[in-house]
Amino acid sequence: MTQPLHRLRSALAAADVPALLVNSRANVRWLTGFSGSFGMALVTAEEAVFITDSRYAIQAGEQVVGLPVVSFGAPKTMKDVLAEQLASLGVDQIAFETSNTFAQVRDWERDHAGVAWIPAPNLLAPLRQIKTESEVEKIRAACRLADATLEHLLPRIQPGVAEMDVQIELEFYLRRQGSSVSFEPIVVSGPNSARPHGKATDRRLQSGDFLTIDMGAWVDGYASDITRTFVIGRADDRHREVYGQVLEAQLASIEALKPGTTGVEVDRIAREALDRRDLARHFGHGLGHGLGLEVHDPGSLSPRSQDSILPGQVWTIEPGVYIEGYGGVRIEDDVLVTETGNEILTSFPKDLMELG
Ligand code: GLY
Ligand code: MN
Ligand code: MN
Repeated sequence: MTQPLHRLRSALAAADVPALLVNSRANVRWLTGFSGSFGMALVTAEEAVFITDSRYAIQAGEQVVGLPVVSFGAPKTMKDVLAEQLASLGVDQIAFETSNTFAQVRDWERDHAGVAWIPAPNLLAPLRQIKTESEVEKIRAACRLADATLEHLLPRIQPGVAEMDVQIELEFYLRRQGSSVSFEPIVVSGPNSARPHGKATDRRLQSGDFLTIDMGAWVDGYASDITRTFVIGRADDRHREVYGQVLEAQLASIEALKPGTTGVEVDRIAREALDRRDLARHFGHGLGHGLGLEVHDPGSLSPRSQDSILPGQVWTIEPGVYIEGYGGVRIEDDVLVTETGNEILTSFPKDLMELG
């Protein structure tokens, strides 16, 4: 039995769940290795099966580890195959992931009326939070690629260049490296940098702007997520004050990220650092999130976090200050929690850079 399947079975037993249907993409990939867009794993205490359709039969045969693969083609449908598998595994009560749509669950209840369909908490989320060595290696590689992308962009960032041109060059670079962006990159300058999730526009960079670039890469299904903020031309005192305080908040919260603390506490450290210059009121989002098979993997560092910090977790640490009409600063790194502290996986420099 594979390690993910073994860990899931323990979680099912602890939660008293007799059978689970796993069909969200990241959970399917974590559990089975399958990277296609359509497939589901039916897992009971004793048995498990992976079901997909003919579009993915060859791929599933190559990728799925630890579960038998059942694939089907016309005239058979998923409804037929799921009914067969539920019957052959003797399942009369099954938990489903609450990420499914209402319409999907209604269809299952109608099509498999002899089976009780029960919403399940995301049992895989806490399991996915603890990364294996091989998962960490993939995230590490995705981080190295994100660092290299920012390095590649540096000489191209000058007054007169449009935000969109920076974004397009970023995407081209990653495609040329055999990767792609792990989310639509954020490239925002001047007053636009006060929009934490703003879209790149045709605005041209000007001396005196903050420029924030938030981007990530995929490597073998695992994401990176890094943000750096630059000043175009010369930095003035206000730039230095705001940037310096965000950096102080980021460094202090990274320092605090270690086993034994909580997501609430690490977030609080960042807010306290910003508060020393009355900037915490401009920090509206959480400090960070889990990172892995999804850019926003399970878990959060925030005032509402439910998470304990444990070895093997990978978190983003991304405090920001956003002042409407002026601009914003965010600094984001990806950080692995170790037995004794942490290791920062992104390594692009963080000293304030004046470009152009
Ligand atoms: N841009 C997404 C994030 O940093 O969380
Ligand atoms: Mn980001
Ligand atoms: Mn992030």
